[in-house]
Amino acid sequence: MPYAAITGWGTAIPERILTNQDLERMVETSDEWIVSRTGIRERHIVSGGESTTSLGAGAAREALAKAGRAADEIDLIVVATATPDDFLVSQACLIQADLGAGGAAFDVGAACAGFVTALSVATQFIVGGVYRRILVIGVDTLTRYIDYQDRGTCILFGDGAGAVVLEATDESRGLLSTVLGADGNGHKHLYVPGRTKYVANSAKLVPESAAIFAEESPYMKMNGREVFKFAVQAMGDSAVEAVQKVGLSFDDIAMLIPHQANARIIDAAARRLDLPKEKVWVNVDRFGNTSAASVPIALAEAANAGALNEGDNVVLVAFGAGLAWAAGVVRWGVAGVEPPHAGAATAEPVAAASPSVSPHSPVIAKERSHV
Ligand code: ACO
Repeated sequence: MPYAAITGWGTAIPERILTNQDLERMVETSDEWIVSRTGIRERHIVSGGESTTSLGAGAAREALAKAGRAADEIDLIVVATATPDDFLVSQACLIQADLGAGGAAFDVGAACAGFVTALSVATQFIVGGVYRRILVIGVDTLTRYIDYQDRGTCILFGDGAGAVVLEATDESRGLLSTVLGADGNGHKHLYVPGRTKYVANSAKLVPESAAIFAEESPYMKMNGREVFKFAVQAMGDSAVEAVQKVGLSFDDIAMLIPHQANARIIDAAARRLDLPKEKVWVNVDRFGNTSAASVPIALAEAANAGALNEGDNVVLVAFGAGLAWAAGVVRWGVAGVEPPHAGAATAEPVAAASPSVSPHSPVIAKERSHV
């Protein structure tokens, strides 16, 4: 029975940066409040021609290059996103066209838990012998659905994409355990009320719907306290279960890569697993919450920094709208994978995605309340 090793990884980060100081000029908030309650200092947001497609394809190209694979060698593309560019066409098809890839393509929807969920779906296709090479992409442009007059949400989110290439191997590599869960009753704590109508622009098509369209906000609504409580519980429980499922103890874990929503939620999860700070990858300060992109961006950063070694056990855990959660243990490395990938995971570390290498944006114009 094959396993699904991660042989390549990549990211795509929007150029424009929105800092806490920018937000101080847009809503009644302060850098001090945002940092102490969330750990976030800045986030990248889409602008100009950037889209879910351009970011997803950018991350995929980097992951393919790292794996030493061409787009036409990929059997399947699975995209985790809550913010596709088209209402009807799957985001995976749009990215497939951009890459010039073939094979199958579909989306997985689990909001911020989407990437870990998609990784688990894709892994089943390799373990089951259906496919041998799969691209898994986590990408979101949630800032398009954020009200920049709502201080409860606009401080939290950023945009971005992360991708991995999975390839079949007979060695125990890749995702070894999966814990997925959902509590649909919690959908009311985090949602975008008018999004369907907004995306389809049905007000234009059906005159009677104009009234409904006007009543329903196209922007995210969130009950932060409820989501916070749920997140602390779900992240801790599912991470513990994922580790136990594979018969490991926390001492065997080299790195925790959690969803980057809030530094306080990450700290709580790390405490639950009894992991020291150096074993927890945190970049929420530079990216905010990038939804489905959060875990793969953090994973790629950790890999590029040389923090993940062949055979390391890495815990991925995420939670999101739904409410949904997903966790798993990944054994890092490319043992047993058909070349040319043997060198990929030991390639020279490259600079982690960082605002220090991105051009700093001008202040976001005050009138930019509708992104
Ligand atoms: N600046 C200043 N004050 C603020 C801000 C702000 N940006 N936002 C809220 N406040 C105020 C509130 O109005 C409130 O004031 P009050 O006491 O006078 O009513 C006070 O600060 C405390 O508000 P709380 O909501 O209790 O603050 P909390 O410590 O819970 O932090 C936060 C809020 C950061 C949103 C937190 O609840 C959180 O992180 N929740 C989880 C959110 C999350 O992770 N969502 C993403 C899910 S993933 C997905 O699928 C997209």
